[in-house]
Amino acid sequence: MIYKSNVKELLNTDKRGQIVKIDGWVRTFRNNQFISLNDGSTINNIQVVIDFANYSDELLKRINTGTAISVEGELIESLGKGQKYEIKADKIEIHGDCDPETYPLQPKKHSLEFLREISHLRFRTNTYSAIFRVRNSLSFAIHKFFFDQGFVYLHTPIITGSDAEGAGEMFRVTTLDLDNIPKNESGAIDFKSDFFEKPTNLTVSGQLEAELGAMALSKVYTFGPTFRAENSNTTRHLAEFWMIEPEIAFADIKDDMDLAEELLKYVVKFALENNAEDLDFLEQRLIEEEKQKPQDQRSDLPLKEKLRFIIENDFERLTYTEAIDILMNSAPNKKKKFKYLIEKWGADLQSEHERYLVEKHFNKPVILTDYPKDIKAFYMKVNDDGKTVRAMDILFPGIGEIVGGSQREERLDVLTDRMKEMNIPTEEMDWYLDLRRFGTAPHAGFGLGFERLVQFVTGMGNIRDVIPFPRYPGNARF
Ligand code: 4AD
Ligand code: MG
Repeated sequence: MIYKSNVKELLNTDKRGQIVKIDGWVRTFRNNQFISLNDGSTINNIQVVIDFANYSDELLKRINTGTAISVEGELIESLGKGQKYEIKADKIEIHGDCDPETYPLQPKKHSLEFLREISHLRFRTNTYSAIFRVRNSLSFAIHKFFFDQGFVYLHTPIITGSDAEGAGEMFRVTTLDLDNIPKNESGAIDFKSDFFEKPTNLTVSGQLEAELGAMALSKVYTFGPTFRAENSNTTRHLAEFWMIEPEIAFADIKDDMDLAEELLKYVVKFALENNAEDLDFLEQRLIEEEKQKPQDQRSDLPLKEKLRFIIENDFERLTYTEAIDILMNSAPNKKKKFKYLIEKWGADLQSEHERYLVEKHFNKPVILTDYPKDIKAFYMKVNDDGKTVRAMDILFPGIGEIVGGSQREERLDVLTDRMKEMNIPTEEMDWYLDLRRFGTAPHAGFGLGFERLVQFVTGMGNIRDVIPFPRYPGNARF
C-alpha cells in the first residue's frame, strides 16, 4: 500500500519503512541526485534521493527549481545532517515543467520589493510561506477565542450607505455609466438611477452593524475586509485590510480593554505554540536583516522573545491627558526632534508620538484612553467632563496603533447632539439611533487591524508583505 502524505507529516511522524507518495515543487536539485521538495505544509523541505542511473537524461533535465513533481518511494532514515528522514525515490513523475531560463524565483536571496512585484509567485519562498501560515493560524485563533467565549460571528455588509467612521475616506460603489453620468434638474448626480437608488460605498468598518447585533445577541464580532481610500503610502496602511470588531453589551471601557488585551495575548500565544518553526525562520530572517541597520535601530529582543514578552506582561494603561504630559516633557519634544511638536492638550497623536510612548518611555504595549472628543468619532461615549470621550487605543512596539475602540454613546440625546455637531446625517442613520430608543444599554467594542497584528507577530516591517495581494495607492494588480 502506498501511503499518500505531505512533507510536514513525513518529517514529524514516524513512517519509516513505508512506501510513500508525495507531491510538491522542487526547491533545488543537486548532483543529479538530491531533490529538495516543498509542498507548503511546512517551512522545511524533504530530501528526495534518486539513483540517476534509473532515469533518462531527458527526465533529469526537467527537474528544475519550481518544477511540480510527484514522488513515490521508501521513507528512510537520512544519513545527511539537517533532516531525520528522506525519500528513496522509486518513481518520479512530472506534473508541470518550470523553465529555469524564465522562472523569476531562483534559489538565492531576493529582495522583498522584487518579490512584491511577483506576488503571484512569492508564496513559494520560505519567507512568504511562513508569513501566510502564521496569518492562517492567527485567523483561526481569533475565531476560536471568540467561539470559546460564546461570541456570535456576524457577517456585516461590505457595501454600505453610511460612513461608519465619519471620516469620508470611502470607495464609491456604483453601476452608473461613468462616461454618461445621469444628472437631475439641479445638475447633481441622479443616484435614483444607480443600482441601490442612493450613493453607496465599500465599508470602512462593520462596527455600526455589529452594534445592532450586540443589542440582541450580547456578544458579537465581525472579521472581514474593510476599505479606506486614504492616500497613505506608509508601511502600516492598506486600502483594503481585514478588521476584527467585537462588540459587547452591558460592558464599559474597562471590559473593552480587558477583552482586547486578553484576545491579543491569546492569539500571540497560539501562534507561538502552533507556528514554532515558521517563527524560528522569521526570527532568523529578522536578525539577518537587522545586521544591515545601525546598532541603535535594531530591536533589542529576538522575535519570539518579543512575542513572549507581550504574553507575560500587563499592558500599560493611561489617559490621553497623562500621555500628553509625558510627551510635552519628553526629550524629543523639548529638543524639537519630533516632526510634529506637542504644544498643547488636544493635539492629535502622530505615530512618532505613539512610538515614543511605547518604545522609549514604557517599553511595552500601551493603552491610551479618554481622548479629546474633537479628534475621535461621533459614536464614542462622552465623559462627564464634556471634553473627552471614552476611547481606547492600543499601541504596540514597532507598529503603533493596533487597536482602536471605545465605549459607545448609549444616550439618545447626547448621541444626536454629537452627530449634529459633526455633520453626520441623523435621518439616514435612524436605524442606528433606534438602538438608543428601544432598550438602550451600555456597550463597547473595538477594531483590531488584522494585518498590523500579522506584522507584529511575523516581525515584517511592511504591511504589504503580510496580505497576499496588497491594495495601496496606484496598485491593484493580481
Ligand atoms: O481606529 P479605527 O479606524 O477604528 C474603527 O474603524 C472602529 N470602527 C473600530 C471599532 O471600534 N469597532 O481602525 C481600527 C484598526 C486600527 O487600530 C488599525 O489597527 C487598523 O484598524 N487600521 C488599518 N490597518 C491597515 N490599513 C489601514 N488603512 C488601517 N486603518 C485602520
Ligand atoms: Mg484609530
